Amino acid sequence: MACLIHRMKNERGWDFSGYKLKSLKRRVQKVLNVHHVADFDEYYRMLERDPSEYDKLLSTITIKVSEFFREPEVFEALKKQLLDSPPPWTDKLRIWSCGCAYGEEPYSVAIMLSEVFGPKAARRSEIFATDICKEAIEQARRGVYRIEQLHNVDTDTWKRQFRPYGGLNKINNDLRNHIKFGVLDIVTNHPIPNVHVLFCRNMFIYFNKTLQESVFAKLDYSLKKGGLLVMGVAEIVPGPFAGRYKRVDGRLSIYRKTA
Ligand SMILES: C[S@@+](CC[C@H](N)C(=O)[O-])C[C@H]1O[C@@H](n2cnc3c(N)ncnc32)[C@H](O)[C@@H]1O
Repeated sequence: MACLIHRMKNERGWDFSGYKLKSLKRRVQKVLNVHHVADFDEYYRMLERDPSEYDKLLSTITIKVSEFFREPEVFEALKKQLLDSPPPWTDKLRIWSCGCAYGEEPYSVAIMLSEVFGPKAARRSEIFATDICKEAIEQARRGVYRIEQLHNVDTDTWKRQFRPYGGLNKINNDLRNHIKFGVLDIVTNHPIPNVHVLFCRNMFIYFNKTLQESVFAKLDYSLKKGGLLVMGVAEIVPGPFAGRYKRVDGRLSIYRKTA
């Protein structure tokens, strides 16, 4: 396993050495099973013969489970925060979904802004959506989803924001063009600066403590003072940073950066 991690770093620059080993091993085993390869040596030969296999490997070892308005109560609480202290629309509201999977999260935010503040206000924000996985970003840019991914979207919102697309559902171009998608590996790349609302949900659960702290330092750099940080419901701000982040809701992992 250590050797595969080393190869990925050398060949592609992805550093998985701080990911939790148990879940990583399970995912890699899945790749070996799919290819019916008996051991790592045979898989390394495969990677040498066909370097595009690295992208497929990355796509399988990253877990991209998501859905529109995942944990709707989080979006409700965020909406309340934004309504209670509306953003100064003189400034563009900068929002970043870090680890956006197939785009469900940033599109949910764009829909929420448009529904709450109207399409004009939504356009006065900038939404960045990034992920380590190129295949996920390409799919996110297409903005096409199965109906099961939309079960938290009510019918009226669906009518306003989606259209049927060959048995699937396509997000409206207005919203789609509003989001800047890009590949960004938060472990090895620089973060996006001057962000007012930062989503980093359900990614830290795959990191060990050391990696959680070093990645959090980047998120901390990125988020403006007074900004909102949305983490997964099972995730918390790491100890060294906890004093500067105040939970805005007793239960959910939504924090305001206080200093
Ligand atoms: C479980 S999904 C979470 C998606 C969404 N944030 C949510 O909560 O529904 C975790 C995402 O983190 C991405 N990811 C993992 N490691 C990453 C890294 N080093 N840099 C950027 N994204 C990463 C994965 O590709 C995956 O899309």
